[in-house]
Amino acid sequence: MIAMNEALFDPVAAHYDSWYDTELGSLSDQVERRLAQSMFKASGPKVLEIGCGTGQYTSWLLQEGYEVTAVDISGKMMALAQKKIAALQETTPQAKPVHWWHGDITEILDQLETYDGIFSMTAFEFVPEPETVLQKLFSRLNPGGCLLIGLIAGESAWSDYYEEAARRKPASVFARAALYTKEEIASWQLGVPAEIGECLFFPPHILTEAEALALEEERAGNPGFVVARWVKGFKQKREPAAGCR
Ligand SMILES: C[S@@+](CC[C@H](N)C(=O)[O-])C[C@H]1O[C@@H](n2cnc3c(N)ncnc32)[C@H](O)[C@@H]1O
Repeated sequence: MIAMNEALFDPVAAHYDSWYDTELGSLSDQVERRLAQSMFKASGPKVLEIGCGTGQYTSWLLQEGYEVTAVDISGKMMALAQKKIAALQETTPQAKPVHWWHGDITEILDQLETYDGIFSMTAFEFVPEPETVLQKLFSRLNPGGCLLIGLIAGESAWSDYYEEAARRKPASVFARAALYTKEEIASWQLGVPAEIGECLFFPPHILTEAEALALEEERAGNPGFVVARWVKGFKQKREPAAGCR
C-alpha cells in the first residue's frame, strides 16, 4: 500500500509547482487558498499538516506562527517542501522548525500526538476510507481545536475535467483520486457537524480572468472545491450536585 501511494506523486513532484504558474492554476489557487485560510484557526500553536506536498501551505502555516508537523507519503514531494521551507527560514528567522514525517497517514494514526489544529489540502482524495481516518484524526484534536480539509468536489465542472484527464492518461494521479460531493463530505460522522465552505464556481475552460472572477462572485451551480471544518468543543465543567462538596 505505501509503495503504491508513494509512487503516485513521486513521478510528478518535479513539475508539481508549475501548475501554480499557469493562469488557471494561479487563479484557482487564489480562490481555494482564500477560502481555506479564512476557515482555519487552530486553538493553539501545534498543527498537523497532512499531505504537505511541496509545502504550498506549509509556508503559510509557518508564517502564521504555528509549530507544524508535516506528513507526506511521497519522499520526493516532501524533499521539495523541505527545500522551500529552508529558504523561508533563512529570510524569516522567527519561523519555527518543521517536524517532517515521511509516512502514510493511515499507518501512523496511532503514533500521533494531540494537536490544536489539523490541516490538509487536496490530499484526502487519495486517502482510502476518509471518514474513518478523519474520525481518528478528530480524536487527536485538543479541545477547541479544528480539523480542516480542502477537496476537489465531485459532480462539478472540475471533477469532470480531472476525470477526463484520468481517462486520457490512466497513469495520471487523478485516475487514483476519489472526488466526493459536498453532501457526501457533510454526511461524514465525526461527532460534530461539518461546516462547509465552497468555491471554484468557474469551470476550468474559462476565457479570461475577469470572466472567471465574475462567475466566482455569482456562485451559481456546483462548487469545484469544498473546504470542510470540524471544531472540537470544550467539555462542559460538571457543576457539583447540590449537597456535595
Ligand atoms: C495533490 S497533492 C497536495 C499537496 C499540498 N497539500 C498542496 O495543496 O499543494 C497531495 C499530497 O498528498 C500526499 N498523500 C496522498 N496520500 C497520502 C497518505 N495516505 N498519507 C500522507 N500523504 C499522502 C501526496 O503524496 C501528495 O504530496
